[in-house]
Amino acid sequence: MPTIPRTMRAAALDRFGGPEVLTLHTLPVPVPDADEVLIAVHTASVGVWDADIREGWSPSGRVQFPLVLGSDGSGTIAALGASVDRFAVGDEVYSFAWDNPKGGFYAEYVAVLSHTVAGVPGCLDLEHAGAAPVSGLTALQGIDDHLHLTAAETVIIHGASGGVGTVAVQFAKLREARVLATAAGEDGLALVRRLGADHAVDGRRDGIAVAARGFAPNGVDAVLAFAGGDALERCLDALREGGRLAYPNGVEPAPKPRRGITITPYDAVAGVAEFERLNRAIEESKLEVVIAAAYPLADAAKAHERLAAGHVLGKIVLRVR
Ligand SMILES: NC(=O)c1ccc[n+]([C@@H]2O[C@H](COP(=O)([O-])OP(=O)(O)OC[C@H]3O[C@@H](n4cnc5c(N)ncnc54)[C@H](OP(=O)(O)O)[C@@H]3O)[C@@H](O)[C@H]2O)c1
Repeated sequence: MPTIPRTMRAAALDRFGGPEVLTLHTLPVPVPDADEVLIAVHTASVGVWDADIREGWSPSGRVQFPLVLGSDGSGTIAALGASVDRFAVGDEVYSFAWDNPKGGFYAEYVAVLSHTVAGVPGCLDLEHAGAAPVSGLTALQGIDDHLHLTAAETVIIHGASGGVGTVAVQFAKLREARVLATAAGEDGLALVRRLGADHAVDGRRDGIAVAARGFAPNGVDAVLAFAGGDALERCLDALREGGRLAYPNGVEPAPKPRRGITITPYDAVAGVAEFERLNRAIEESKLEVVIAAAYPLADAAKAHERLAAGHVLGKIVLRVR
């Protein structure tokens, strides 16, 4: 049984601000409650929302400094709460624990509710698994639970070269949909084509309407959006009567309501059944988790500077171990 230290290294903030407020701290290792597990973190995923929280946005309104960011990541089980029997110490796991009051994944240890944790799919190593929980759950739930996408349907995945979009392209192809991906830049277009998109268009230029008409002359069935604004409105123009749009909350500006179109905002949900379904989809699709850059935990501020620079293809991660 590995010994658990009393303190750990964590990238945390003592006040809100720019990337420079993220500094290395020595903090107490969190103690798991009965329904929690303690994970020795291997890889922490860096989300675009982490920057919002760093700047002062609080999902719950509750703020306690020092604040440890990080909604998802991977690692090995270091300890189990008294009522947890689904895991054993040493298991390789990944987890999505939103707004965790005990602190996030930018740390050597995290204590999270056990239902937010799952075994790492066999086809992913711990680094790629650490980049996958939120992106995977958000992509899969958008496609299956909110769009109910079926084989041969047409879908525009808007913002396909980012963290969630790169996964969504692959899961939409797993469901045998026809995918028009909007991406940013030549490198973004090349990436989404390689991941399986049937067609790709640079959504930062003017081509969405023309590309969509060529792709689905009678209108597309669905749009899954990971970016907002004018280009998203152009995607909505391409929907057929009765078409549907889903987007995770956080996409801004949010799309305007339209007659004849079903618009569904949603949040990713972590749970035992949700992770079982995600693991199946990851295995079946042989998911490629795209990591744009990896930084040591001590360079969390640099990771946030990279995030702020924009045009991240896939995900940024922190290597904690
Ligand atoms: N509520 C939830 O449960 C939940 C969960 C996950 C994500 N989200 C939200 O979902 C959104 C996407 O998350 P993410 O992690 O995938 O973010 P991301 O990595 O920043 O992805 C967004 C992508 O959209 C691209 N993009 C922006 N404008 C575009 C345009 N006009 N045409 C084509 N592509 C465009 C961006 O490219 P550039 O970087 O080159 O501009 C980027 O690759 C965020 O708003 C996030 O907050 C919500």
